[in-house]
Amino acid sequence: MPEFNKIDIKLKNNKIVTIRRGEVSDAQDLLDLIKAYIPQSKYIPKLEKEIKLTLEQEEKWIDAFLKSKNSILLVAEYENRLIGNIDLTGNPRAIMKHTAVIGMGMPKEWRNSGLGTALLKEVIGWARQNPILELIWLQVYTENVLGVNLYKKMGFKENGILEGFFKRDNVYFDQLTMSMIVK
Ligand SMILES: CC(C)(COP(=O)(O)OP(=O)(O)OC[C@H]1O[C@@H](n2cnc3c(N)ncnc32)[C@H](O)[C@@H]1OP(=O)(O)O)[C@@H](O)C(=O)NCCC(=O)NCCS
Repeated sequence: MPEFNKIDIKLKNNKIVTIRRGEVSDAQDLLDLIKAYIPQSKYIPKLEKEIKLTLEQEEKWIDAFLKSKNSILLVAEYENRLIGNIDLTGNPRAIMKHTAVIGMGMPKEWRNSGLGTALLKEVIGWARQNPILELIWLQVYTENVLGVNLYKKMGFKENGILEGFFKRDNVYFDQLTMSMIVK
């Protein structure tokens, strides 16, 4: 599994943030971060009440990334606070272990700042160096302009749309699957 050395990057707002691997000791902060940003986005297919991981389960979730050969969890930190995360989860099954799926998010005030670009760039670079991974993919609401533009810009290909896949308060949204070869 390739190393990941933490890096500092400058965002469009001139703030300097650190991107590093998530550690087990980040569990509480990461839970708090995710709980804070999920209700701030229409485009994360999870309700606040469905975030049920205990601190111990969150610690195990982070630890699993540290032990997995085809997965990585990165966090972004600003002034000792977590402000975003990205996870690349490798498939555990033998026939699909060359594939991994991306999830990411951040609070409202950090969106459209270039943070998503920076997090994704690091994950793509790591995936390219990883000898197991060959294909990374993600699913996004077609309406999610920031997300879709970011993924296209980084070179993800559009694979297909599943109409009506998401339904919230009786309103349907379409899902777009995107992928990138990282052989
Ligand atoms: C989706 C998300 C991760 C993207 O990260 P981000 O930091 O906002 O993205 P960036 O600022 O790096 O990139 C967004 C791009 O969209 C562009 N963009 C913004 N508004 C746009 C618009 N109306 N039309 C077209 N492009 C637009 C930006 O200019 C930028 O591209 P550029 O860097 O070439 O200028 C982030 O917004 C987020 O966490 N959203 C809520 C949760 C979520 O949707 N998670 C992803 C689920 S798949």
